[in-house]
Amino acid sequence: MADPQEILAARVQSALGAALGAEFAETDPVIRPSQFADYQANAALALAKRIGRAPRDVAADIVAQLDVDDLCREVEISGPGFINLTLRDDWIAAQAQALLSDPRAGVPQQDPETVAIDYSAPNVAKEMHVGHLRTTVVGDALARVLEALGHRVVRQNHIGDWGTPFGMLIEHLLDAGEDSPEAELVKTDPNAFYQAAREKFDDSAEFAARARKRVVDLQAGDPETLRLWQELVDLSKVYFNRIYAKLDVTLTDSDLAGESTYNAMLPGICEELERTGIAEISEGALCVFLEGFTGREGRPVPLIVRKSDGGYGYGTTDLATVKYRVEQLGARRLLYVIGAPQSLHLRMVWQTARKAGWLPEGVDPVHVQIGNVLGSDGKILRTRSGKPIRLMELLDEAVERATTVVADNRPDLDEATRASIARDVGIGAVKYADLSVSHDTEYVFDYDRMLALTGNTGPYLQYAAARIRSIFRKGGVDPASAEGPVVLTEPAERELALALLGFGPAVAAVGATLEPHRLCSYLFDLAQAFTAFFEQCPVLQAADPAVRESRFALIAATLQTLVAGLDLLGVRAPEQM
Ligand code: ARG
Repeated sequence: MADPQEILAARVQSALGAALGAEFAETDPVIRPSQFADYQANAALALAKRIGRAPRDVAADIVAQLDVDDLCREVEISGPGFINLTLRDDWIAAQAQALLSDPRAGVPQQDPETVAIDYSAPNVAKEMHVGHLRTTVVGDALARVLEALGHRVVRQNHIGDWGTPFGMLIEHLLDAGEDSPEAELVKTDPNAFYQAAREKFDDSAEFAARARKRVVDLQAGDPETLRLWQELVDLSKVYFNRIYAKLDVTLTDSDLAGESTYNAMLPGICEELERTGIAEISEGALCVFLEGFTGREGRPVPLIVRKSDGGYGYGTTDLATVKYRVEQLGARRLLYVIGAPQSLHLRMVWQTARKAGWLPEGVDPVHVQIGNVLGSDGKILRTRSGKPIRLMELLDEAVERATTVVADNRPDLDEATRASIARDVGIGAVKYADLSVSHDTEYVFDYDRMLALTGNTGPYLQYAAARIRSIFRKGGVDPASAEGPVVLTEPAERELALALLGFGPAVAAVGATLEPHRLCSYLFDLAQAFTAFFEQCPVLQAADPAVRESRFALIAATLQTLVAGLDLLGVRAPEQM
């Protein structure tokens, strides 16, 4: 697909070389969207300073060499030396029309790279909280977008499935019985199970002693203990998968690569770090001291890779994730979609891995920082009684509220249809609200705002898509059969067609910046361009059949783009609303 900005950049760049000499052939032509034309090239201003000439003269020389007759209707030098570029209507029309027969819906195919994405990562026998909701939703959108751009994505769900709490969890499971209702709680209300284990641990010395002994057995690989541990992990998987199914998240059991996956690698990691002198023993623990990581009073902060009791920590397993993803998965990009507070931890891990040679030149790990989700009081979202919110309840409430909205708007639909729409709208609203703000900022969780049918919300975009579908239904036309030709006469038609060409570039921008909110902004702009178009340009009522065909093609391309865009965000577009 044609990205006008990219094509214009290439053309202006070669004009630059022709006008000013080969040494300028690589100069960035600085193409930007313009207020006075479709785009403007700003390069002449900076270049003029460099070569000591008047900017308007430099611009004139560039324009003299510029060959854009096939795609621009007007090229104009304006102000101090901007080159204004206005696209030809027939060019825009042809590009918009070509979208309809493009199986990639305008998304460019990039040189494939292997990308490992660490996301979601809940903990076994614990409730997923809103922080996990956000890393799950953002990580999944990134996985979908990078796949659409042609990359090989390896999802890595780094669940917390190892460590000392498993001693008490296993003992509690044994006390309750493996087939007991208490054990069932791990599938439905994991915190209740965890809390009960915790209370026993705090109250009973006998239980605590058993739990401690269990941790030793677990680490020693005692088969019966491992079986019980596996039982807990399996029960938790049921819970995770219920949440993932409810959220329409692409994670499956084959993406699970929890902390325990790396157990066998940990002694070797410590051994190598010690042998190469990267780690040293300090107060009995094996530590890596890195330059620039200091705490209070300038005291060095270590990355502890082996505790004084011989146990390994969170840092050690994360070192193993780097090694595994680079060496075994062949990943060239490593994304860690994790809460912002873990930034220090990750930087220490990566710097250590770099020193040890596990992170070769050219492989860049990225922390996709996830900001907090806040309640209306501006504090971390909690229930009224101060407990952490149960994710399942949060999602169920979104669907419930959407049910009311749908019941109000569409009393004509049968119950089953309404329920399915409510589900798509409720879940879509929560996911979209999460994705439409930059992933590293905090946002206030607000059902009313996220479910609103106006503004940059999931329901607004779903509604735009449903409206287009209803136009086709009313006209008795299948959107798949709309093929134009697209002819642009009204300004609102031109605006919509031009907006359609922005989809591929918007998806590419998400792949490059790892910021899904860019795709949301794009889709919101597109939906607004459609709304403006629809107010000014009747489709079914258009008197001229050629205009009707053209408008059908335009809205079919809009529908295709909205649906494809929402799908990349993991949001469903219901048939009607
Ligand atoms: N399980 C951790 C938590 O719930 C998140 C793990 C993130 N991934 C990682 N490779 N450290 O906070």
